[in-house]
Amino acid sequence: MKGLILAGGTGTRLRPLTYTANKHLIPIANKPILFYGIEALRDAGIKDIGIVLGTNDPEAVKIAVEDGSKFGIRVTYIFQGEPKGIAHAVYCAKDFIREDDFLLYLGDNMLKRGVKNLVEDFEKTKPDASIYLCKVKNPEMFGLVELDESGKIRKLVEKPKHPKSDLALIGVYLFKPSIFKVIKTLKPSGRGELEITEAIDNLVKSKKNVKYRIVTGWWKDTGKPEDILEANRLVLDDIKPTNKGKIDEEVNMHGRVFIDKGTVIKEGSTIKGPVTIGKNCEIGPNTYIGPYTSIGNNTTIRNSEIEDSIILGDSNINCKKKIVGSLIGRHSIIKSYDKLPHGNRFIIGENTTLEI
Ligand code: DAU
Repeated sequence: MKGLILAGGTGTRLRPLTYTANKHLIPIANKPILFYGIEALRDAGIKDIGIVLGTNDPEAVKIAVEDGSKFGIRVTYIFQGEPKGIAHAVYCAKDFIREDDFLLYLGDNMLKRGVKNLVEDFEKTKPDASIYLCKVKNPEMFGLVELDESGKIRKLVEKPKHPKSDLALIGVYLFKPSIFKVIKTLKPSGRGELEITEAIDNLVKSKKNVKYRIVTGWWKDTGKPEDILEANRLVLDDIKPTNKGKIDEEVNMHGRVFIDKGTVIKEGSTIKGPVTIGKNCEIGPNTYIGPYTSIGNNTTIRNSEIEDSIILGDSNINCKKKIVGSLIGRHSIIKSYDKLPHGNRFIIGENTTLEI
C-alpha cells in the first residue's frame, strides 16, 4: 500500500503565519504538523509516500522532509499547483499511485492513535474505500456521513448548510486505484473544487463497498488558530519530562517540562508543565512559563509571563503584560514600552489579530 499526504492548499485561515510559510510546517509541541502525519503512516507500515505540494512555499516542505529517509520512508513529491480540490490533488498523483491501493491523508490533520486500525481493516476485507469518522459539534464545517437505521452509509455530503448528521469525515481515506475513474467524472462543486466527498458518495450510489470506522482517541483538523492551540494542548498532555539544557538553581520547575539542547533557564523563573522549550533558548530571569506552552528554537524571554501559547521560534519577548492563548510567528519582538506617551505601540503585518 502507498501513502499520499496532501500539503498544498493556501492556509488562508491561518494568515498571517501562512503568508510566508506552508501551514503544514507550523509546529505543534515543536514538531511540524506534517511530521505527525508522516509518522502515522510509517507506523502503520506505509513506507512509500507521495507528498502533494501547492504554491504555498513548496520548497520549505522539501527542505524539511528531504527524501524521507530520516523517518524511515521514501518520499516522492507531486506538484499540484493551485488548490483545485482534494480529489484534484489525488488525481495529480495518478502516476505515482499506479495500480496500488493507497491511504490518502490530509496533511493538516492529527490523530492521537494514528491510522493503523483502519489500514488493518482495509487489508483484511479489501473494500472499495474505507473512511474514518468522528462525531463533531460543528458539523457544517466538515464533510458528513449520513447512516441508515442499520448503520450502513446512506450518503456523504460536503459541508451542508443544514446538516442531517454530526458524523464528520476526518482527513484519512483508503482507496483502491479504481477511485481515479470516479474522480475523472467529477465536476467542480459550488466552491469550485473537485470534492473527494462526492467521489466517495458516488461509490455509495453505485453500491460499492464503502466501510467506515469511528475514530478513537482525539482527532484535530488544524485549519484555524484555535485548533492549532488545542492540538498543542493535546500533544503536550503526553510529553515526557526531559532536560538537555541548563537550569539555574533558583528556578522552580513543576510538572512535565521538555528542555532541549543549548537552552538556559535563568534565576527567578518558574516553569509549570506541560511545557516544551526548543534549542538555544534563553528563558529568564524572572519569567513564568505556564502550562500548554511550546517555545521554538532560538527564543529569548525575559521578565515575562506566558501560558497556553505557541512561540514558533527566533523571537524576543520582554513584556510586562501576561501573554495567554497566543500564536506568535517567527522573528517576533514583543516588549514593554515605558517612555511617554503611554499607550500600545504596534508594528504589525496584514491579517494580524490583537486582543488587548
Ligand atoms: O479535516 C477534515 C475535512 O477536510 C473533511 O471533513 C472535509 O470533507 C474535507 O473536504 C476537508 O475539508 P477542509 O475544508 O478542512 O479542507 P482544506 O481545504 O483545509 O484542505 C485539507 C488539506 O488538503 C490541507 O492539508 C490542504 C490540502 N489541500 C487542499 C486542497 C483543497 C491540497 O493539498 N490541495 C487542494 O486542492
